[in-house]
Amino acid sequence: MKITMVGAGYVGLVSGACFADFGHRVTCVDHDPLRISALERGEMPIYEPGLDLLVAKNVKEGRLRFSTDLAEAARDAEAIFIAVGTPSRRGDGHADLSFVYAAAKEIAAFAHPEAIIVTKSTVPVGTGDEVERIARAARPGVEFAVVSNPEFLREGAAIGDFKRPDRIVIGTLDQRARDVMYEIYRPLTLNEPPIVFTDRRSSEMIKYAANAFLALKITFINEIADLCEKINADVQQIARGIGLDNRIGSKFLHPGPGFGGSCFPKDTQALVKTAQDAGAPLRIIETVMSVNDARKMKMTERVIQACGGSVQNKKIAILGLAFKPNTDDLREAPALEIINGLSSAGARIFAYDPQAMPSAKKLLPNIELADDAYSCVRGAEVLVIVTEWDEFRALDLDRIKKLMQQPVIVDLRNIYRPKEIFDQGFKYFSIGR
Ligand code: UGA
Repeated sequence: MKITMVGAGYVGLVSGACFADFGHRVTCVDHDPLRISALERGEMPIYEPGLDLLVAKNVKEGRLRFSTDLAEAARDAEAIFIAVGTPSRRGDGHADLSFVYAAAKEIAAFAHPEAIIVTKSTVPVGTGDEVERIARAARPGVEFAVVSNPEFLREGAAIGDFKRPDRIVIGTLDQRARDVMYEIYRPLTLNEPPIVFTDRRSSEMIKYAANAFLALKITFINEIADLCEKINADVQQIARGIGLDNRIGSKFLHPGPGFGGSCFPKDTQALVKTAQDAGAPLRIIETVMSVNDARKMKMTERVIQACGGSVQNKKIAILGLAFKPNTDDLREAPALEIINGLSSAGARIFAYDPQAMPSAKKLLPNIELADDAYSCVRGAEVLVIVTEWDEFRALDLDRIKKLMQQPVIVDLRNIYRPKEIFDQGFKYFSIGR
């Protein structure tokens, strides 16, 4: 099939490359000529494992191309996906839909009358109705079908998530549009993932409800971890003990410094706003947001306590800046909050992240960036593990101990076993145990 993907950002690029890999012919369109020319040279605007190879393979085989020309790319496409950003609007926290609506208008002007328009961006309930209204108004006489098809990709694991989804959600009541969508995802049906056909509004809501529930699950285990510390229980064992219950499930029960990233904070906020406006407030999700915000700040206090009550003029080593491993994304990363808090308390911060250094240079100009984990910890009074990159799971602890001023580790992701670390002569603080 011929597919056009509007927006060559995270979602557009991963989805476009995966669709091309299924055998479809895909054009990824973006307004930004620099981004498009970089992609044409094979340079990825984001770090996502395997994406560069997937793009290169499909470009070489003639199924994937990049363009700034939406008019040309839309003309003979059978499906046109909107995968542009929906940032939080300044001031009121609602999702900013101006990019989505602008794309809808432009698509309608050039698309084939039979083409279906598919929203992949995360958009509040009712956005599809507005996209349909805008598209039909821009091309009177053409009854464009507008479909909601949310994505459930995790950064760092996006290609696997796309190719082996737990489910595919397709929101439209239009039978022809359903048939086209089924054809697009047919290569995946060999693995038989459930395809959930719904109406468009329910599909939009599924995306927000899924993210809000996952954020809730993380926040739940984080609070249980705090309680475990007070009552001398081990949160890891609690997570395993409850997670084995199929009704609960073991995923997203890892306690940590609070969730970050470009999705959970923004999407919970947008959902809370929608619910307030609809007169059906989601008090649980409101609480999840405030508990999570407070948690990131509380992590600073943990480090200060581990340092004996003051970090004034002390060197602190931070391992991991990205909001999670296998990405270079710093958006809403707990590390930012922790670094700000420690810097305000007078600490000297040295940090290292395997992928996020270029973004860290821009966002954190006042800290020292190290070349690797070992140069980061040299002379430090405390080592704080903020992101659970694999390379931090097997540090040479003997070497670390010799390099540090004091052998103190604050492990905010529980990647080490307390006994192992105590046996090596460290003071060790982790989460919920
Ligand atoms: C999330 C969802 O998992 C995806 O399904 C969804 O498609 C995506 O948002 C989106 O809306 O686009 P992502 O933000 O990439 O994906 O990353 P997650 O793996 O969900 O992690 C989010 C945050 O929660 C991270 O800060 C992570 O460290 C934290 N987390 C996650 C925990 O603290 N504990 C866990 O058990 C799991």
